[in-house]
Amino acid sequence: MLEKLLQKFKELYGEDGELRTYFAPGRVNLIGEHTDYNGGHVFPCALTLGTYAVVRSRGDRVLRFYSMNFDSFGIVETSLDELIPNQAAAWTNYPKGVIWAFEKRGMKLGHGFDIAIYGDIPNGSGLSSSASLEVLTGVILKDIYGFAEASMIDIALIGQDAENNFNGCNCGIMDQFASAMGKKDHAIFLDTNDLHYEYAPVKLPDARIVITNSKVKHSLVDSAYNDRRNECETALKELKAVTDIKALGELTEEQFEEHKDAIKDPVRQKRAHHAVYENQRTIRAARALEKNDITLFGQLMNASHISLRDDYEVSCKEIDILVELAWKTEGVIGSRITGGGFGGCTVSIVKNDAVDTFVQEIGKAYFDKVGHEAEFYVVDIGDGARRLG
Ligand code: GLA
Repeated sequence: MLEKLLQKFKELYGEDGELRTYFAPGRVNLIGEHTDYNGGHVFPCALTLGTYAVVRSRGDRVLRFYSMNFDSFGIVETSLDELIPNQAAAWTNYPKGVIWAFEKRGMKLGHGFDIAIYGDIPNGSGLSSSASLEVLTGVILKDIYGFAEASMIDIALIGQDAENNFNGCNCGIMDQFASAMGKKDHAIFLDTNDLHYEYAPVKLPDARIVITNSKVKHSLVDSAYNDRRNECETALKELKAVTDIKALGELTEEQFEEHKDAIKDPVRQKRAHHAVYENQRTIRAARALEKNDITLFGQLMNASHISLRDDYEVSCKEIDILVELAWKTEGVIGSRITGGGFGGCTVSIVKNDAVDTFVQEIGKAYFDKVGHEAEFYVVDIGDGARRLG
């Protein structure tokens, strides 16, 4: 793929000068959904799918962007003096936002660059193609401009800042953290309250991680996401009146039950219930994996789905169909919605010898019920963002 991208770069921008190549992965979250803006735990892994870039520095302040995924846009040209979000600039708002966030922190770019990118993460599938583009840009800037002071965690935080304050989605830190800090064959057990993290080996000798793409993305994803976040913030305020906490993630289930009546609205109470219980489930799931108790891990994944469906209400008909089909399929250890929700993907752990049947039978049943095909990816866990050459 990189060869093709290099070829395209040279075709578009010419052959001269030093070309550098980079990669940043997408992610799948195994468990711990909608906990990252509630000071809870998440358990994502970086994928080997992701976004590639070829970059060359320029002598002037011009920035030229091209994506093979959005070929019809052609080359989008702007400059370091125009770092403002612009709807017409579409996907380039992600890298621009990251430049803006670096400059805000005093890391100024003295000159522009030409870039060509290609991503093999299906867009809009909930596997963090945008976070991977943000982290990719961060790694490029750190390398090309020598911003040694920016650690990989800073790059994740900068990506989140760009997403929140330049692109208007109030996301948490999980996606950018996973893309920046991923490690081959490991999940990241991250406490989003203080960014303490541990790498957890994912040893599945007789099973695979299978991602199923529902190929639906319901509109208003960003606004519904921001609504959930606001509901949790209001619930937290109400709880603070009766108990001394800074985040929902600090509560055990018992503490939540004791204080939950402080949350006046029943819908808000359900949202907070999810945030608290999902965090505790994630802690339990990480422990289960450590003890090689994959069965318990799977049960916790299933419980996570039910909570996201009923209490947090971020699932949808198509995703529920996929998950219910998976639950009924022999050899499935656990299955749930993954990512922000309202469409996108499910993640399942499936016994090796059941993977083919899983893909065939669920693929067929999904088509029969929904009227379009699902897509299946049997994935590997890869390393975080880096320079390739
Ligand atoms: C999106 C956000 C993440 C996280 C998940 C839900 O992927 O970008 O920060 O909140 O949704 O777990």
